[in-house]
Amino acid sequence: MRNRPIGIFDSGMGGISVLRETKKLMPNEDYIYYGDSQNIPYGKKTKEELEKICLDIGDYFIDRGVKSIVIACNTATSAVVDKFRNSYNIPIIGIEPALKPAVEVYKSGKIVVLATEVTLKENKFNSLMDKYKNKAEIIKVPAPKLVTVVENGITEGNQVEESIKELFEDINMNEISSIVLGCTHYIFLKDAIKKVLGNRVKLIDGGFGTAQNLKNILSRRDLLSDKVIDGGVEIVNSSEDESKIELSYKLLNM
Ligand code: DGL
Repeated sequence: MRNRPIGIFDSGMGGISVLRETKKLMPNEDYIYYGDSQNIPYGKKTKEELEKICLDIGDYFIDRGVKSIVIACNTATSAVVDKFRNSYNIPIIGIEPALKPAVEVYKSGKIVVLATEVTLKENKFNSLMDKYKNKAEIIKVPAPKLVTVVENGITEGNQVEESIKELFEDINMNEISSIVLGCTHYIFLKDAIKKVLGNRVKLIDGGFGTAQNLKNILSRRDLLSDKVIDGGVEIVNSSEDESKIELSYKLLNM
């Protein structure tokens, strides 16, 4: 069991940012990455639609014999993580907007959470927000356009910068201490966000924390690979557009 692959999925390319962290932390593991570009954006789907789509991916991973599944998507985690844990008898790791470090590390100033509409609306995030609402002012900002640009392989340049500017038009940046990147696609836009907003504001994401969490859980269950050589990464994508696979490998090596 311990040398079986780990399954990681997202609506498209975004989860590659999480795969990058897990691969860095556990290079000797084998990974299967499933990008569901055919069904993107998850951020505009209903919970019921997401359950159906994501459970098909979960079943695919079980057929492939994975030892654990990482839902490398904040949107899918908020909609289906409980269902996954009830359906599959292997460790299920999710990702959620990294509000905790934002509140604890950068105490002064308001916090912006960038995420999809579904993530910001679902109970999971709102209970998390309730926990911290007395400690910091939290501003929710949905950013669907940023998903589209990354999915098209664009991580820098005018189009990206204009989309970022638009999001912050009505926000007084002097009052903001940090921005939580609550969607795995946005992690690829860190440089562009810094270019538009400057270096003062801290950008926080849950990629590394999720990788660490995966490692701890596998270790506790004695499921870490004992291979001494580097593992492999297999990328599959639900879209017929073959360029998605090529683009995914490019982002993985960015
Ligand atoms: N990457 C996904 C997330 O972390 C969502 C992108 C989408 O809307 O499909 O929430």
